[in-house]
Amino acid sequence: GMKAAGIFALIGCLVTSTESKLYTRCKLAQIFARAGLDNYAGFSLGNWICMAYYESGYNTTAETILEDGSIDYGIFQINSYTWCRYAKLQEKNHCHVACSALVTDDLTDAIICAKKIVKETQGMNYWQGWKKHCEGKDLSEWKKGCDV
Ligand SMILES: *[C@@H]1O[C@H](CO)[C@@H](O)[C@H](O)[C@H]1NC(C)=O
Repeated sequence: GMKAAGIFALIGCLVTSTESKLYTRCKLAQIFARAGLDNYAGFSLGNWICMAYYESGYNTTAETILEDGSIDYGIFQINSYTWCRYAKLQEKNHCHVACSALVTDDLTDAIICAKKIVKETQGMNYWQGWKKHCEGKDLSEWKKGCDV
């Protein structure tokens, strides 16, 4: 009866919450600000929130397989070919991190890697979602209402 339904609903919640996490816009704003992304390399917080939205929909476990066989990982959709390690014998891995570390709710490694991408590629052009939807726009709305 009701009891069983409640228990199944509870189990359902537990299962989905371990599968993937969607951060809210403001929670991300907070995490990004604490990690020093606001104005990192000259890019305001709005740029980072906007970019994460168009790259992953704030989904920490988002994975996209590309035509060349490489995979984009996590909230910033960081690519395995250059930036992380998905196989043992892989040379590039510029972020010195396992790709699997980029698809967890702890965003520490993803943020460190994103900072490196911005430095090494000189800007945020790496992210197509950012180029298409965020670049050159007034991005102050993205942190509106957030406690940052
Ligand atoms: C997040 O991405 C994963 C992998 O692409 C997907 O399986 C999952 O359904 C997504 N989560 C949400 C809440 O959209």
